[in-house]
Amino acid sequence: MEVVIVPDAKAGGEIIAEAMAALLRRKPDALLGVATGSTPLPVYEALAGKVRAGAVDASRARICQLDEYVGLPADHPESYRSTVLRQVVEPLGLTADSFMGPDGTAADVQAACEAYDRALSEAGGVDLQLLGIGTDGHIGFNEPCSSLASRTRIKTLTEQTRVDNARFFDGDIDQVPHHVITQGIGTILEARHLVLLATGEGKADAVAQSVEGPVAAVVPASALQLHPHATVVVDEAAASKLKLADYFRHTYTNKPTWQGL
Ligand code: PGA
Repeated sequence: MEVVIVPDAKAGGEIIAEAMAALLRRKPDALLGVATGSTPLPVYEALAGKVRAGAVDASRARICQLDEYVGLPADHPESYRSTVLRQVVEPLGLTADSFMGPDGTAADVQAACEAYDRALSEAGGVDLQLLGIGTDGHIGFNEPCSSLASRTRIKTLTEQTRVDNARFFDGDIDQVPHHVITQGIGTILEARHLVLLATGEGKADAVAQSVEGPVAAVVPASALQLHPHATVVVDEAAASKLKLADYFRHTYTNKPTWQGL
């Protein structure tokens, strides 16, 4: 796993946006897996800035979602479909045609989950999957003790995640859905490159356990240790509990084996 320690969230956004831009220059129709939440916003702002500046052509990019609330209407402002359209698809100048996500309104949720896994494979697989991390160590909405081999499926959110996400619902936890569809950990591990961004002290424990702890379903993000090309980008606050922080700084600065973002 490559760990990159950056001074702040903006620098993390910039370095990941540049990795996405480099991918799009190599492969203009790359499938970019995006995440929701507050953490990835600097990535999307930086990438949209590069598109506006003409530094990269994203007109053929394809975007896919990691997860979705079950039961929120697709056009609800806090559905992840609406969120990704607003934060990623529209700022990049793309249309809804270039975007795919699981159907959180399907009558048959299981069939919708299977259809989404199939659609990702048929699209050629995800080239770069951006991930956040929950304070409980989740990736996507794979809460602690999710099978490391799991596929896209319905999950029940922990109380902690609903508390964390209440800020998107006027601070009212009762409005936060209990259920979600999420790409499974096994599904996420099929992406060709995983890039996890974590910022702020609140993520420091989850980052340390994921990077330096054992691979364990109780810390879903530790599954990144199983991936041949996983990059963890953290600001100083989120890196504050990493025992190997100095080593990671040294490795990045000296780059003998650096695969590149
Ligand atoms: P956050 O969410 O970026 O809003 O902290 C991260 C996550 O839950 O994956």
